[in-house]
Amino acid sequence: MKFLVLNGPNLNLLGLREPDIYGIDSIKDIKIWLNSQIELDDYEIIWFQSNHEGDLIDQIHAAINEFDGLIINPGALTHYSYALRDAISAIPIPVIEVHLSAINQREEFRKISVIKNVCIGQISGKGKAGYFEALKTLVNHIENS
Ligand code: DQA
Repeated sequence: MKFLVLNGPNLNLLGLREPDIYGIDSIKDIKIWLNSQIELDDYEIIWFQSNHEGDLIDQIHAAINEFDGLIINPGALTHYSYALRDAISAIPIPVIEVHLSAINQREEFRKISVIKNVCIGQISGKGKAGYFEALKTLVNHIENS
């Protein structure tokens, strides 16, 4: 199975950015950690990060026929990007939402996810382990559908 992990704005600064909230691992560290949790012969996982909404949308469109599923941490776009929401609902492959921090226990604006309803699930507040849980949930969803 082949998966795309999309990370949105400011997540390129993981490790430096508010480590008390987002942890001390960089995206590269999380990628290496996730690879250490899985059987690499079974899964191909491609990572992409962008600070630009349109680039993320282009990747979502390009994922059709290319990937079995998508894991997305859209950063702050989560809370207001209807364009991202529409891109996710436009593709026939399953998408799962992940957040390092517990978005429901932070500022009011973070409690709203405009992509939640077009994703197969939302994992929040589990740090890097959330990416692994997202992958397992996605695999389970694909195998049972
Ligand atoms: C985040 C939560 C968002 O509210 C925030 O804007 C981010 C990161 C998370 O992973 O916890 O950039 O998606």
